[in-house]
Amino acid sequence: MRIAVIGCGYVGLVSGACLAAIGHEVICADSDDSKIRKLNAGELPIYEEHLDKVIHTARSSGKITFTNSVAEAVRAGDAIFICVGTPPLADGGADLSAIENVARVIASEARTPKLVIEKSTVPVQTGQQVKRALQVYGREHGATFRVASNPEFLREGTAVEDLLHPDRIVVGVEDAESERQLREIYQPIMDGKFACPIHAKGCPKLELARFIVTTINSAELIKHASNSFLALKISYANLISDLCEKLHANVDEVTHAVGMDPRIGPQFLKAGIGFGGFCLPKDVQAFIRLAERAGVDFSMLKEAERVNKRRIDSFIERVHSALWIVKGKKIGVLGLAFKANTDDIRFSPAIEVIGRLLGEGACLCASDPQAIERTRSLYPGISYSGDPYETVKGAEGLLILTEWPEYRALDWKRIRGLMMRPLVLDGRNLLDPAKMADLGFEYYSFGRPSTAVTTMA
Ligand code: UDX
Repeated sequence: MRIAVIGCGYVGLVSGACLAAIGHEVICADSDDSKIRKLNAGELPIYEEHLDKVIHTARSSGKITFTNSVAEAVRAGDAIFICVGTPPLADGGADLSAIENVARVIASEARTPKLVIEKSTVPVQTGQQVKRALQVYGREHGATFRVASNPEFLREGTAVEDLLHPDRIVVGVEDAESERQLREIYQPIMDGKFACPIHAKGCPKLELARFIVTTINSAELIKHASNSFLALKISYANLISDLCEKLHANVDEVTHAVGMDPRIGPQFLKAGIGFGGFCLPKDVQAFIRLAERAGVDFSMLKEAERVNKRRIDSFIERVHSALWIVKGKKIGVLGLAFKANTDDIRFSPAIEVIGRLLGEGACLCASDPQAIERTRSLYPGISYSGDPYETVKGAEGLLILTEWPEYRALDWKRIRGLMMRPLVLDGRNLLDPAKMADLGFEYYSFGRPSTAVTTMA
């Protein structure tokens, strides 16, 4: 079976590369010619851990090719994964025009039977619309189409790992042949039988029950329901953190113990400046719109979104109360990406904070292990340095805005010596308040005891 992947963004590139890595012949297409030229020159348009290795291996074995012609990929593929973007519209709903465009190309170019699989996150019932578009626009050529949904659960930063070693594979199908083909595609992962580019010692099998076959509508809903639940969980933890501040409890202690209940689980309970990125915020919005259209009152999700927006206001209030006037003050920033291990700054809470402070005339000096270049094109006026120690020199305050683990391991004693005023506002609860106090920092985070000035330089 030849596989075509349409769209070479995060989802498409990782999916295409990993499907090639497990042994399939894959052709990846994107209408953005500059992206394809980069890929053909052996470069990557995004940073994603292990992706370089996976693509290099697939390319060397001739398993993966890239083209700027969607039509060519459509003609070549027996199974076609649609991985194009579904950005938010002004009303928060998902813009599905790119999906429809791809469906039209598939309909007009296909001459052999095609299994068309939506992988992009889409509102429920998009599969039915894709089916209709294929029928309407493909009438003349007589090719047959089957439609399936196979939502991605890829986290940026661990996307390759998530695809090759998933906790579940969900396929929404309407017929036995589509299910058979999707099982065939994922069999190497189910069996743990492929040359794993990450784990040299081999991979475990995936339990049979974790290959979940549903209707197309359910598969589409599973993706939205999963992401929205994660968003709810984060906002819940953030409200608990607010309560901890008012009632003098410690959010780390509370969420640690709460998360030990297996019905709740420890992940996504980290308080801070809130969730960002290109998935959670837009999926939450799209789910809210979807529920409204379906006549279901899902206001708890609206509340999660509102709580999340308030995080930035709350952080800026802390900056003001610690620094008073920010105009003209030198402030260091550690972290630009929307989370650690990615260079993605789309809907990054860090970018939102920076935008507000720049608007107030702050002099920012920023660092990030991966996201400087992307941020520079957005805010050319900030001074940037790859070296965190440079970033803090002479600063009157330091903001931690992304949870990069390497920031924990910095020489904080040295940083204290470099700063004009040893003030740290930790928007990600990354550091230990007690240790920061011992080092003489004035330290603020969310839902944990703050340390006022104990010793001054
Ligand atoms: C998300 C989903 O996790 C993934 O399953 C889906 O396929 C795509 O969307 P991703 O966008 O990569 O993945 O980010 P994720 O790891 O979910 O983090 C989202 C945001 O939440 C980040 O800004 C992160 O910093 C924040 N976050 C996460 C918290 O604020 N607290 C937490 O406890 C966890």
